[in-house]
Amino acid sequence: MEDPPLSQFLDKQLHDLCEMVGLDPRSASALLADLLGPVGSRPVSQPPAWPSGVADDHTPVEFSVAFNENERPIVRILGESLAAAPSPATNMAAAYEFVARQAARFGLSTAQFDQVRDVFATESPVGGFALWHSLVFRQQRRPEFKVYFNPELTGVARAPGLVAEAMSRLGLSRAHEATLTRAIRPRELGRADRLTFFALDLHDGPHARVKLYVSHHDAEIRDVAHAAGVVNGIDTDELADFCLTAGGQKTFADRPLVGSYTFLSGSDGERPAGYSLYVPIRSYVSDDAEARDRVGTLMERYGFDVHELDRIIAALAGRPLDDGVGLIAHVSLRLGPPRPGITVYLSAEAYRVAPPRRRWHPSAQDHAQQPAGCCAA
Ligand code: TRP
Repeated sequence: MEDPPLSQFLDKQLHDLCEMVGLDPRSASALLADLLGPVGSRPVSQPPAWPSGVADDHTPVEFSVAFNENERPIVRILGESLAAAPSPATNMAAAYEFVARQAARFGLSTAQFDQVRDVFATESPVGGFALWHSLVFRQQRRPEFKVYFNPELTGVARAPGLVAEAMSRLGLSRAHEATLTRAIRPRELGRADRLTFFALDLHDGPHARVKLYVSHHDAEIRDVAHAAGVVNGIDTDELADFCLTAGGQKTFADRPLVGSYTFLSGSDGERPAGYSLYVPIRSYVSDDAEARDRVGTLMERYGFDVHELDRIIAALAGRPLDDGVGLIAHVSLRLGPPRPGITVYLSAEAYRVAPPRRRWHPSAQDHAQQPAGCCAA
């Protein structure tokens, strides 16, 4: 179909992605439709109903595939549920309704969610979103759910206080303080270092996970290596190598490097239990062919099958990889028990493909100053 509804455009991608990794697409499809709600029927030729920050082109959904040792890849959807007449307040209501529906349908425990939801509640959110969702699909399992609160929804300056209150209610104050001490550069809290997401698992296990995301603007690799060091057993050299290969540079002046800290609620440990680094690779490559090559190098390094990456990309991409940039949005490294893993974040590009950045083409004059053969591409 030339101009499909948004839901159909995304469902085709999800379907192909699920087939690629051997998942039954049916329950994922149904959840995607529920997540999209009223905006699903909007043709993709119309501008986005709401400037969602989930993806650069405002598609309210982003796919990701998580690779783990001895396991089939896991497919995930990050999404924002939007109201029929989107606004900060109506979207927030739609997001809470989505949680309530899934909790009822799948018997999810919302105990932790209910403990902190009023911390992040407001009549008039000012940040871009109030609540995002993550849907996780593994082989032979029921879908799993995570919610992301926006700590900055009542202003950047209030984020640290909201997060501290939420962490305290979950019995995680000590680990939280240790994390901030190490993760935030001097005097940069709310400036170059921002608390961008606060995430919770919606399940009833004894140790549901809590995750805090810190965005480091204008950071060097050594800043994130230092920040990660609060977690016991993290190999910060390994992390630095990953960051360098993914980003191709040591300073990240465009989109921020993001770190996330995992806490086990009720564990009252002194430190977080795990760390992940998200490299916004799309800001540091010319096009997706270059991004694919870097991610391929990383996958090989960690013993994953690069063909799998190519099949996954093929399921989503409606274009040659060097025709645009941003299909591969982030690549992340998960560290901490039990084993490291890599996750690749993939844009749907329902609304727009960002043009490739021009590779450097030497002018005749520059060329004369370069050693022979350096600039063949
Ligand atoms: N698009 C937003 C960003 O790039 C939010 C986002 C989507 C994000 N997926 C992510 C942030 C993965 C960090 C990691 O910031």
